[in-house]
Parts: sequence; C-alpha cells; structure tokens
Amino acid sequence: MELIDGNRISAEIIEELKTDVAAMDGAKPCVAFIRVGEDPASVSYVRKKEKVAREIGIESRLTVLPETVSQDELFALIDGFNQDPFVSGILIQSPLPSHLDELAAFRKVLPEKDVDGFHTVNLGLLCQEDDAGFVACTPAGIMELLRRSKVDLAGKHVVVLGRSLIVGKPVALLALQKKDWANATVTVCHSRTNNLAEITRQADVLIAAIGKAGFVSGDMVKDGAVVIDVGINRIPDPSRKSGYRLTGDVQFEAVSAKASKLTPVPGGVGPMTVAMLMRNTVKAFRRQHF
Ligand code: GUN
Repeated sequence: MELIDGNRISAEIIEELKTDVAAMDGAKPCVAFIRVGEDPASVSYVRKKEKVAREIGIESRLTVLPETVSQDELFALIDGFNQDPFVSGILIQSPLPSHLDELAAFRKVLPEKDVDGFHTVNLGLLCQEDDAGFVACTPAGIMELLRRSKVDLAGKHVVVLGRSLIVGKPVALLALQKKDWANATVTVCHSRTNNLAEITRQADVLIAAIGKAGFVSGDMVKDGAVVIDVGINRIPDPSRKSGYRLTGDVQFEAVSAKASKLTPVPGGVGPMTVAMLMRNTVKAFRRQHF
C-alpha cells in the first residue's frame, strides 16, 4: 500500500503559487475570513489558512463575529467585503451556529469572490463543466491529489460516501466530468443507501466524506482500491497535550491491508483543501485585476 502524501503535494502547489504571486509586481491577492463563534475546529482551520496565505504572500483579513450575531449583521459584513475592491475572495467558515442560514450566507457572497465555490452560480458552472467558476476547495483538492498521484479515473467506478454541498456533491460532479483527468462512473451513497458495503466493495476509488470516525472497515473495500479519507474527526485522547487526536472516516490499519493507495489523516486531504483555497484566491485576484 502506498500512502498519498497530501503534505508533500500541497507543498508543491504552495511553491507554485508563491512563484505566481511573486510575479505580480507587488500587487497582493487578499482573502477575507469570516468566523462565527469559537468552535475549536473552525478556530484551528482558519488559523492554518491564515498561515499558508502569509507564506504565499496572500493578504488575509480575519473577522470573528460573536456566536449570537444576527443574520443581518452577518450579511452586512459580507456586503462590505463584496464592495471592497481590495478583497479578492471571501470565506465563511462552516459550520455556522444553527440560528444562521448558512446557505443564504454562501449565496450572499458575490460569485466572483466566492473562493469556496458554494454559491449557486459556481455550482451551476461546475455542473456545466465551465472552468470560469470556482470549485469547492476539498473536492478540487481530492481531484488534484488523484491527478498528481497518477490515479487514472477514466472508466473507473468512483464511489462517494456522503452527499454534502461541501464535499460529496461537488466531488461526484468533478469525477463525472468529460475531461481527460475524470470520466469516471460515479455512485453517490449516503445515510439512506441500502446494501452500502456491497456498493463500496465495487469501488475502484472510494471517497469517504461522511464525518463518522472509522466508518469504513476493511470488508467494505475491494483489494487494490484507491481510498481517499476526507474525514477529520476529533477523538478525545487524554494522552495528548491538546486532549484530542484526529482520525479519519476510514479504519486506517484494516483498510491499509486492502487498498493500493490511501490518504492518511492528518496529512492527506486536509492540507490540499487549504492549498486549493489559495489557488482560488489567486484566480479571483487575476480575474478582478487582469
Ligand atoms: N468547513 C469545512 N470545510 C470547509 C470549507 O472547505 N470551506 C468552508 N468555508 N468551511 C469549511
């Protein structure tokens, strides 16, 4: 079994982006982060995104809103960034507290600043296979991992576990595209799917994005399959300084014995999501200024 090293591959992309930004003669892309409340995972993800932006030479602006913020106040902030010519891209860290309408917030971001790719227009462009739009960062990162690991999807059966807006749906659309790096046959499974293991065992490429620690067992995976573990689950672990450890949606040991290639957690898909956000920010900047 070969590990797909997301840290190494994302570092390559970050280097490419550094070169791109350095060639912009001092003009700097800028991404605005909006975080609501103090969800520990969101705090850590946004911090990581700020750090990578800094490394590349992308400016970032973080606004932290209180847990109790109203929909109108959130909308007013988004509107301000929409109208600010200095801001190239806007990211609203998900999940938002339950009293806020997350989808409405995603739709409030101007499509040309929607570096998360969650706006109706960008999802529509993805569906139409029009590269002018922005593709959601985790799905784009998964495709880039597969491409750079020389996994050919053409004619293969890709099984996606999970139908979320953030991962499942867009990654299924990407794998399905009529492009030389895609052309897969795609099945999307979810919590109501019957005979799940029977379907996952048919997968040449299995993409697990359900958010349940250790959901995918060895007997759900075909010998030689490529397995992409999108889960980042926090498990309490008193032996760690942080008090928790990260684990994926896949039972790593058991699936290692079956898979030909597997992404680790951490160090697989996670760093790719951040790299793709940076790529989208550079793309947004270019489209606004050149
Ligand atoms: N929460 C988990 N993944 C993501 C992502 O890709 N973008 C945003 N905005 N929030 C997330």
